[in-house]
Amino acid sequence: MSFLWNKDATLDARVLNYTAAEDYALDARLVGYDVTASIAHAEMLHGANLLEDADLAAVRAGLSALADEHSRGQWRIELADEDGHTALEKRLTQRIGAGAGRIHLGRSRNDQVLAALRLYLRDVIEELRARAAAVAAALDELGRREAATLLPGYTHMQQAMPSSVVLWAGGFAAQVRDDAEGLGLAHRRLAQNPLGSAAGYGTPGLPIDREATRSRLGFATTQAPVTAVQLSRGKGEAHLLFEITLLLQGLGRFATDVLLFYTQEFGFLSIADAFTTGSSIMPQKRNPDVFELIRGRSVTAQACLDEVLGLCAKLPSGYQRDLQLLKAPLFRGIDLALQTLAILPPAIGSIKFHPERIRLDSSIHAAEEANRLVVAEGIPFREAYRRVQEKLKR
Ligand code: ARG
Repeated sequence: MSFLWNKDATLDARVLNYTAAEDYALDARLVGYDVTASIAHAEMLHGANLLEDADLAAVRAGLSALADEHSRGQWRIELADEDGHTALEKRLTQRIGAGAGRIHLGRSRNDQVLAALRLYLRDVIEELRARAAAVAAALDELGRREAATLLPGYTHMQQAMPSSVVLWAGGFAAQVRDDAEGLGLAHRRLAQNPLGSAAGYGTPGLPIDREATRSRLGFATTQAPVTAVQLSRGKGEAHLLFEITLLLQGLGRFATDVLLFYTQEFGFLSIADAFTTGSSIMPQKRNPDVFELIRGRSVTAQACLDEVLGLCAKLPSGYQRDLQLLKAPLFRGIDLALQTLAILPPAIGSIKFHPERIRLDSSIHAAEEANRLVVAEGIPFREAYRRVQEKLKR
């Protein structure tokens, strides 16, 4: 085995298994982003007269081809590669020869992984926001379809005031949109260029142009001083997972209402057969598993957030290998959010209300009646409240 950092091939295989662990698999989604950042870095080196024209051209063509072939499944990162960054450099070397060895000038995998992660997360946030918008639109559509359907509004799980499907679904839609704004806020910490910090202490002796990679990659600012970069790893991740948790908790509450309304005791709504599952023993059952799993998923998101927060707490400054472990909970939380947001529009579309089975308590208009008394007679609300209460006792 040979690595970028170990040409003597003395590494114990058990160490590779333990340290690379699942990293080589997790890095698959970062390959294209690592290539984008690597090309920007190579262009910067070229601009600083640290890379020849011919080498830049070979690096660009080689890395672009590798990214393309990876996306088409023509090669994979192997455990023996250790991680995606090494996998790319190895393959680039096989392809273009010694020129590949020139692009690691002025960088380290420590700033390289952050650049790739931040570019990936920028796309992820856009995708999450687009899917959240589709969920909100599906909730609006449910309100339109059920425009005439009244619902009891509950407090303490007791009928409180009249509500409607429009009002019920509209509240969730508004919250999903607000949570999507929150996802956007997570982008702020990620919009800082980590490149040029290298292992964490910059590039002494080299005229590295951090502004050049910043503008090429579309980062808003350059992160400074260089020692701040590794201190910030995990924070953008935590912020994003926090916003994901809020979003999924809200969707979980929606699912809980649906599950309650779907019980035989309520019977307010039905769910299309294609969106329910059967029981292996009870022939009559149609189970609302999709909504139960939407409810359950917010717990996993919260656990991912907790794992990310715990990994960074109490670390000393500078790069620590612990930071590699951030990727698993980060990707897990992102994937379950993407999947949950994707199943929701059709799941919401599968809901049909049964107005004939929805009974509003006769006393549900009591607060409204008291309000009307105040408006009509100018009496204090407390007096109106007492009068309506008296009337209800009779
Ligand atoms: N796969 C590593 C990570 O995600 C890349 C950085 C490795 N750096 C190192 N010095 N071993 O953190």
